[in-house]
Amino acid sequence: MSEIQTFLAAHRDRFMGELFEFLRIPSVSARSEHDSDTRRSAEWLADRLRDAGLSAEIMETPKHPVVLGEWKEAGPDAPTLLIYGHYDVQPPEPLEEWTSPPFEPEIRDGRIYARGSADDKGQLFMHVKALEAHLNIHGTLPLNVVVVAEGEEEIGSPNLVPFVEQFRDRLAADVVVISDSGMFDEGLPALLFSLRGLAYCEIHVTAARSDLHSGAYGGAVPNPGMALARMLATLHDAHGRIAIDGFYDDVLAWDEETREAIRDLPFDEEKFLAGVGAPALSGEEGFSTLERLWIRPTCEVNGLLSGYTGEGAKTVLPARAMAKVSFRLVPDQKPGRVAELLRTHLEKVAPEGVRVQVVELHGGEPWRANPSGPLFEAASTALEEAFGTKPVLMGEGGSIPIVGDFEKVLGAPVLLVGFSLPGCNMHAPDEWLTVDNFQTGIASLTRLYEELAESLSG
Ligand code: BES
Ligand code: MN
Ligand code: MN
Repeated sequence: MSEIQTFLAAHRDRFMGELFEFLRIPSVSARSEHDSDTRRSAEWLADRLRDAGLSAEIMETPKHPVVLGEWKEAGPDAPTLLIYGHYDVQPPEPLEEWTSPPFEPEIRDGRIYARGSADDKGQLFMHVKALEAHLNIHGTLPLNVVVVAEGEEEIGSPNLVPFVEQFRDRLAADVVVISDSGMFDEGLPALLFSLRGLAYCEIHVTAARSDLHSGAYGGAVPNPGMALARMLATLHDAHGRIAIDGFYDDVLAWDEETREAIRDLPFDEEKFLAGVGAPALSGEEGFSTLERLWIRPTCEVNGLLSGYTGEGAKTVLPARAMAKVSFRLVPDQKPGRVAELLRTHLEKVAPEGVRVQVVELHGGEPWRANPSGPLFEAASTALEEAFGTKPVLMGEGGSIPIVGDFEKVLGAPVLLVGFSLPGCNMHAPDEWLTVDNFQTGIASLTRLYEELAESLSG
């Protein structure tokens, strides 16, 4: 065992205890009643970075602060690694579906259950412990390190791009590493070659001044609920394609090599279906499930609201209806343009007598890596050593809006190395991270820093 491994083994219980403290802070960025918790979470993290031997500052933004950790003692000629993660979490509701409360972490069957265990506090904290291990054992790091931990990822990172632009010199880095995604399967680590982007909109449909008696007025006055349903039904064609004019104009065809690599992955469709519990899978014709998830765009209803939804019947003609609709995007689609196309489409298909308003909530650009070269090799070596298996290349259907901006503003390539597992319930009740991946993940990160330093200095 290396000295670092010995250190990690000796401090296992302390690390877990600290992680539990982090997970107990309900840093729900979307809820203003949790603003002080979100700040407490930032301060807690800054303290742990200082304990590890970095300097740390709480950097104010118009909303939730960024925690900026730095260790620059490798000197101006040494390469710099930027580690990004987020300390905010999604709201925990519905609470009654949690086996143990979301902010009272608990280990069951080798899994740490808590909101944020996988997304992303658990994974961000793994980096803090990997840095601590290096600094404790060697008194140094193999490269300069900047840690950027934001508290607004789950609300679309509204203040992070300006932050990165403002501090571009201080954040200058040769490579960015992010652990906010998953492995392909238990025991099978992964490096990501893509993330989808996001365009998130609200559609508001209104007609009469107020709700009306559906017998006295129905049939003569437009019904926004029905109108919205008809409009939503026009968003796809019978082949699962998105039926908005121009929607696919900017969609790049994926190279045959990547599609073949996707086909070669050990994906168990039955297990996937059983995991979600639906009667069957569905999606765009002509693409496999993994392709539908990773390299094709989608359009989904995320929320619907109209009329009476309480107990029993109420004969009412609603005055309004609302849908939250989001698109997952692939290169080179742009969120702003997709929202514009949606607006044009809805104006065209809106039934007579209703008003339609589209509000753009937030967006993020898709990202695609060039999954080869020395940095991917370095990451592959580190993961293989720790997990005993060479990582696979995979895509990801979710979004991390800042990734493309890091590449654009800092000019540094991004490596996405995640440790959650399929079915880990990110954003859902009973979110979990395995104890094994927490520990092996930390070990792999200590090796990753070494491999990256060597690769960048060589
Ligand atoms: N960590 C996720 C992204 C992700 C999800 C990576 C699943 C790998 C697997 C991230 O925290 C997230 O939830 N992103 C949001 C972005 C949005 C709020 C702008 C998403 O994908 O919905
Ligand atoms: Mn995340
Ligand atoms: Mn998330």
